[in-house]
Amino acid sequence: MATHTEQLTSRPAPSATTAPAAPAVRLRGLTRSFDGRTVLDHVDLDLPAGQLTALLGHSGSGKSTLLRAIAGLDHEVVGSGELSAPDRVSVVFQDSRLLPWRRVLDNVLLGTDGKEAAERGRAALAEVGLAGRERAWPNELSGGEAQRAALARSLVREPELLLADEPFGALDALTRIKMHGLLRELWERHRPSVLLVTHDVDEAIVLADRVLVLDQGRIGLDLTIDRAHPRSYRDPLLGEYRERLLAALGVTEDHTGSEAHPDQEDHQ
Ligand SMILES: Nc1ncnc2c1ncn2[C@@H]1O[C@H](COP(=O)(O)OP(=O)(O)OP(=O)(O)O)[C@@H](O)[C@H]1O
Ligand SMILES: [Mg+2]
Repeated sequence: MATHTEQLTSRPAPSATTAPAAPAVRLRGLTRSFDGRTVLDHVDLDLPAGQLTALLGHSGSGKSTLLRAIAGLDHEVVGSGELSAPDRVSVVFQDSRLLPWRRVLDNVLLGTDGKEAAERGRAALAEVGLAGRERAWPNELSGGEAQRAALARSLVREPELLLADEPFGALDALTRIKMHGLLRELWERHRPSVLLVTHDVDEAIVLADRVLVLDQGRIGLDLTIDRAHPRSYRDPLLGEYRERLLAALGVTEDHTGSEAHPDQEDHQ
């Protein structure tokens, strides 16, 4: 029987000068299955140029799978439509993935060439607060510093699209809040499109201007967060967004404000 599913075509997004309204990322009919199990089910999504978008979803909902597809790291992704993303894409993961045998600046410069890149590398390290640590070894950095170096490494490529897969997931609460400030600051200065995968609803609503929830292989909720920055976790006006996102994730809040997943309630 003939199939209507064809190999997904990947092509660069048109440049902003020729088509200002074109999204940085455009997905149509993105589908991904593993061993016959569909993880992404005909996903349609546009990410406008310069927008900071967060992606929420339960563990195993396919967030990393979606990010890997957009990053061009998944060659087996198929769909009935298209996937277009900018040429200059940087990816940041939960662990910094710094090479332990290279000094911090050399890690940042990996894959780049020339004196100009070296200058950009130093500038990027200064931007993330690591000036003076260029010659440190990765194992001499704290977790937060290593993630800063990873951000510097992504910046040095001047990405049009920054894909971040739970970049702050392994950090303590205080470092995390500082990193939120830093990410927002870097975004405001460089204005790449950002897709930030996170488990943390508060992280999403404080940082992002749009929050997506991935559910059952589709974008189940697409919420614009219309509040000025900088935002505070304690802002009661963010509460409504929080509730909608928690509801989309199937999480209930008890009267003390602590979160409980319905599956866990019987055990408390
Ligand atoms: N290479 C692979 N081979 C087989 N199954 C895979 C592969 N990659 C992902 N999966 C499956 O696809 C589903 C989605 O995985 P994915 O890593 O995208 O989830 P996620 O939303 O990022 O989860 P988490 O929040 O835990 O990181 C999972 O059930 C996972 O087991
Ligand atoms: Mg993941």
